Amino acid sequence: MGDMTLRYIAFANALLVFALPLPSLAQSVPEKSRPIPSAVSAKIATILARPGLKNASVGVFARSLRSGKVTFERNADLSLVPASNQKILTATTALRTLGSAYQYRTAVCTVVAPDAEGTLRGDLFLRGSGDPSLTTARLDALAGSLAKTGIKRVIGRIVGDGTAFDNQMLGSGWQWDDESYYYSPQVSGLNCDGNVVAISVRPGARIAEPATVLINGRPVGEETYITVENRVQTVLNQKESVAKIAFERVRGMNRIIISGTIPVGAKEESEAITIEDPSRFSASRFVLALVKAGIAVETPLWIEAGATPNTAREVAASESKPLSELIKDFLKPSDNLYGEALLKTVGRGEARSGSGTISEGGKRIGRLLEAAKIDRGGLHVSDGSGLSVQNTVTPRLLCDLLIYVDAQFAPAERDAFTNGLPVGGIDGTLRGRFKNTPLAGNVRAKTGTLFGASSLSGYVTAKGGERFAFSILMNHAATAADARQAQDAIVAALYDGR
Ligand SMILES: *[C@@H]1O[C@H](CO)[C@@H](O)[C@H](O)[C@H]1NC(C)=O
Repeated sequence: MGDMTLRYIAFANALLVFALPLPSLAQSVPEKSRPIPSAVSAKIATILARPGLKNASVGVFARSLRSGKVTFERNADLSLVPASNQKILTATTALRTLGSAYQYRTAVCTVVAPDAEGTLRGDLFLRGSGDPSLTTARLDALAGSLAKTGIKRVIGRIVGDGTAFDNQMLGSGWQWDDESYYYSPQVSGLNCDGNVVAISVRPGARIAEPATVLINGRPVGEETYITVENRVQTVLNQKESVAKIAFERVRGMNRIIISGTIPVGAKEESEAITIEDPSRFSASRFVLALVKAGIAVETPLWIEAGATPNTAREVAASESKPLSELIKDFLKPSDNLYGEALLKTVGRGEARSGSGTISEGGKRIGRLLEAAKIDRGGLHVSDGSGLSVQNTVTPRLLCDLLIYVDAQFAPAERDAFTNGLPVGGIDGTLRGRFKNTPLAGNVRAKTGTLFGASSLSGYVTAKGGERFAFSILMNHAATAADARQAQDAIVAALYDGR
């Protein structure tokens, strides 16, 4: 168990852990490709015949953006687990439904007005709209503007209102043993700091001493929301000895257990660990912000999650960056909290009147595809991020959606999407791929990596200047490296042309 956790932590960045290949799948896959006589398709067919893909389910679809001509097709209608390529559906639907100028608004509301001395005898509500980008720094600024209205003291509850979304805080089909880790955060209508805290471990001064633990860079004793049980021992620093630390949050609680060993003199180890109940967490962070802004809170332990009453009025607010900018923070690093929050926001709608649920957001994805005249066969939307293994989509659907966005979206929405994608060899999750090749800077695509799934879908500008949209979805390749190398080679074949 400890080892498994370590492996997860070590590779969590890309969710590299792969399932054993399922040999039976390859045989049951319908083969729908028809030979297209060109150098490109011959090259791609050779790549797909690599041993590492032998027992995998693989679908590829690529079309020219200029002519619409199909350049390559293999199992284009196969229903596959897309991993984070699901985010293409979420991002495009969010831009279409909410518009690129959309901003989240987090408001402070009260029912009663403060008295002449600035004392508020009543509750303070922090009302979220689902903003995945809200941070402690923004709460500090919000508390600062509240202080400017003359409030000096609060005698009442501090209530975090996350009711913009439903209560299903983890995605459907998310895995219980992921819950501690940053890529599996709970989502609420009120979120803060990605709904994680950074736990850092430093070695003690001498062997057998307990390690020193910091939360967000501060001593554990200063933390009000999370408790840490530190079982990490400082050990002898032998040649090449490294820290072996497992981080685990107790399910349903804000209690983190860290165990293992760290050598004397080793450098700090740090992990982002999820918190339980983002609404209450955000309210507790807001209390710290209030105190910092000089507003006394008389009942600092009276922090709750709840709904803002209809009679409350807004006294201060903080707005997020526009959606066009948020899309970058979403797609480039492949942020799962953004995926869940955005799809629920889509469900709620621009007028904020719908229900903030994944199922309502999924219906909006359906409506976009309907408008684009894209067949929805093979599509199942289980979440907004792609972390769920229940999502399925076809390469044809994703590729045709990419073509629709390029040709039919308003320029502001189209550019927000395209500029949000990782750029090969340059940034985001593609920073280390296509590096030092002619493709660097010429590929804009979304990656996807999950237990047993690997994908790459986006755009490539070929050597001759022609642009292609492509979708490559792979399930159960022998290893993640086999899948990625084949994806990169396929995109390189499109780049080289005939
Ligand atoms: C594919 O399946 C066959 C039959 O089970 C097996 O012998 C082979 O090792 C598998 N290949 C890979 C790359 O997993």
